[in-house]
Amino acid sequence: MEPGFFDLLARAALDGPTPWVLAALVAMVVAVSRLPAGRRPSMKLPIALLLLHAITTTAGAAATAAGYAAQTYWIAAYALELFAGVAAVSVLVFRVTVPQLGWRVPRILIDIVTAIAVIVALIAVGKRAGLSLAGLITTSAVLTAVLGFALQDTLGNIMGGIALQLDQSIDVGDWISLGPGTPPGKVVEIRWRYTAIETHAWTTILIPNSQLVKGTVTVLGRRQGEPHRVRRDVDFYVEVAVPPGEVIEAVHAALVADPVANMVTEPPVQVLLYGVAEGRGWYKVRYWLIDIGVDDPTDAAVRARVWYALRRAGHGFSIPAQHLLVTAQDEAHLQRRDDRELRRRLDAIARVDLLASLDEEERRQLAGRLRDAPFRAGEAMTREGDADDGGLFVIVAGRAAVRIGAGATAREVAQLGPGQFFGEMSLMTGEKRSATVVALTDVVTYRIDKVAFEALVRSRPEIADDIADLLAERRSRLLEAREASDDLSRSGVRARTKNDILGRIRGFFNLGAGR
Ligand code: CMP
Repeated sequence: MEPGFFDLLARAALDGPTPWVLAALVAMVVAVSRLPAGRRPSMKLPIALLLLHAITTTAGAAATAAGYAAQTYWIAAYALELFAGVAAVSVLVFRVTVPQLGWRVPRILIDIVTAIAVIVALIAVGKRAGLSLAGLITTSAVLTAVLGFALQDTLGNIMGGIALQLDQSIDVGDWISLGPGTPPGKVVEIRWRYTAIETHAWTTILIPNSQLVKGTVTVLGRRQGEPHRVRRDVDFYVEVAVPPGEVIEAVHAALVADPVANMVTEPPVQVLLYGVAEGRGWYKVRYWLIDIGVDDPTDAAVRARVWYALRRAGHGFSIPAQHLLVTAQDEAHLQRRDDRELRRRLDAIARVDLLASLDEEERRQLAGRLRDAPFRAGEAMTREGDADDGGLFVIVAGRAAVRIGAGATAREVAQLGPGQFFGEMSLMTGEKRSATVVALTDVVTYRIDKVAFEALVRSRPEIADDIADLLAERRSRLLEAREASDDLSRSGVRARTKNDILGRIRGFFNLGAGR
């Protein structure tokens, strides 16, 4: 006798994989319902597949009970329950258990394992339906070729994805750039077909894995064995007349004192004079950023710091030079600028003891002959042994060291600061430079050349006397330093030297002995 409808249903429920599939679904439902509400994965697919299975089974049982051939129903029901089982196990393992264990399973692994499970299920279904899928593929050359062609790209992507995972060349969280045309983005997942990156512009770009494996990919901010960081350059412009040392020092100090958020302190921030563009000094703040996600906001914070630092130093961002030239042509403006400069020069002259005896007019004349001569920290302003006619330098700002000798035997004989001068020895006697004077900080000086000085000593011969005094004093210290000749009485050397020097000065400038 033919089995009845309910017999068939009961047999279907107990037969084959059904109890296992049901058990997997129950386990999945229990596990998922234990999770907190917001973190529950969707169970729609396995449940929907199970429902479809139930419907096809019922249809199959009804058809069979009624005496119809219902093989198709049973096979469909079998396929549906296998898929439901795969889906349930996938949710249970990859969406519940693995996250609970705290493992980070690459997305592509989940995709591939699921795909293999589905293929196995399909083969099982094929077997039940009486066709051997594996046999079909191996025996039919045409089918194999067609499949091969169809899967060519997909396989390339899958293999690419697997390769990316295995060699860990790209990881979730990395920022990558594929070159012009594709904005850089942060890798959010690597799947079997593509790798997804999220860009600053809130877009997601799906890059086929095969392209990532074949092409050149720039991983931003990564270097072997080093923490993640990326170099940023923030440009700013300052009038070219502002001494670069001043700009660099002011900006650097402001950035080092309180590093901007997301800026690393090692490697340290640099402030560079990068060039001169459109008549302006072109500077760069070069710093290292931790999080590429906030590159523009951090650049903006750095730029704001620069603005304030420059303001405090009495400067500011400059506008393009065309505008400056328009105002610079203005007569009144030129006059004001000259007056300002004259005042600065007169102030500088007033600070030099040696020139204290000059009257107002002589000072003005000298001021007109001074030349601006600023030096960057580290520069040599005179070099021992040079026969330059660079003249005498009056220091307005900064510090300098007077050194003799070179290399290991080099030694410092004195330091000079604002109001002091150097270079008078060769100016006044025509001898070679007796020492190297090095700028210890950025130094602002005014240079007095031979012509200007000649005019000065001619009108005030006593200046030659004062200078000869100082010169003798300096020279004796040089002598001491050179020979460490403590046995010579210092005053004796000085007196001799002074007379000698005065004679040389007079000779050099053609001054009479009595003047
Ligand atoms: P000049 O020889 O033209 O160039 C080097 C300068 O170093 C020299 O002039 C002096 O002005 C300066 N100099 C040399 N010795 C001393 C010293 N002992 N103290 C201060 N300045 C010095």
